[in-house]
Amino acid sequence: MRFATLSGLMLSGTFCILLVGASGPGYLGSRPGLTGLGEHHARTVSSACTPVSISLDSSHAPEFKEHFVPVSPAGSYELGSNGLQLFLDRPQGKIATKQNVNDKVAEGATLNSTFTLLYGTVTFTFSGPATPGVVSAAILIADQHDEIDIELVGGDPKHWQTNVFAPSPRDEQPLFGVFGQIENYLSEEKSVDATHSYTIDWNEDRIQWSVDGSLIRTLHKGDTKKNGALHYPAHPARLQLGIWDASSPAGTSEWARGPINWNEAPRRMSATFDNIEVKCPY
Ligand SMILES: *[C@@H]1O[C@H](CO)[C@@H](O)[C@H](O)[C@H]1NC(C)=O
Repeated sequence: MRFATLSGLMLSGTFCILLVGASGPGYLGSRPGLTGLGEHHARTVSSACTPVSISLDSSHAPEFKEHFVPVSPAGSYELGSNGLQLFLDRPQGKIATKQNVNDKVAEGATLNSTFTLLYGTVTFTFSGPATPGVVSAAILIADQHDEIDIELVGGDPKHWQTNVFAPSPRDEQPLFGVFGQIENYLSEEKSVDATHSYTIDWNEDRIQWSVDGSLIRTLHKGDTKKNGALHYPAHPARLQLGIWDASSPAGTSEWARGPINWNEAPRRMSATFDNIEVKCPY
């Protein structure tokens, strides 16, 4: 069984985890408008996507501050000479584990970009801990909860994972696991804790994920039908970088091969982002 994880899970903690999608009546949910883009004919490439290329190190602090805003507390991340580190620190006090769930979950770092894009190509160069129960994520996320995800699941370090969400009003719960996929590495360093470049190439017809420049997965819009509606991300999305503790609830922990065993894991773990590049070919 595998789950992919809606990043909202960590922010709100309120979603219940169920695998099976409801089979509602055939219904093509009408999509909300493209907020902020004005008239369709007025839409131009430059209004929806702006190229950005940032080296994430302390010598580029002004660009970093211009392009990213922390969602988690100050001190949960650090822009150093060797990249942007997002920390996951052991929770205080005693941590009890029951039925593969921890009673305390660490608050990892999360950063949003200050900009959004509607279609474009984003390359994240990063690594994450190969520790069971830890997830490092580089995603595109819209206010309408559309997501295009890259997730490094520490408990399955020889693979990386892709997913999308674009909720339809007909869904009874988030479609965890429905569009998620487990991917291979092609280079010699087949591990989440080695630095790789992951690319999301998103236009209005399809999403492509690549690793280290090699195309790995293509998801066409037409492949995203479920519960009688398409689930294709089509709203302006921010970049969101994060590291999180998937030690609860049970379904999330199982997906992440958690919970974190804090008797063995370092007290502080981190995902490290070296570089982010946004290109705008569409
Ligand atoms: C970060 O992005 C999420 C998803 O769009 C949004 O809900 C949240 O308000 C954002 N937070 C900040 C501080 O920008």
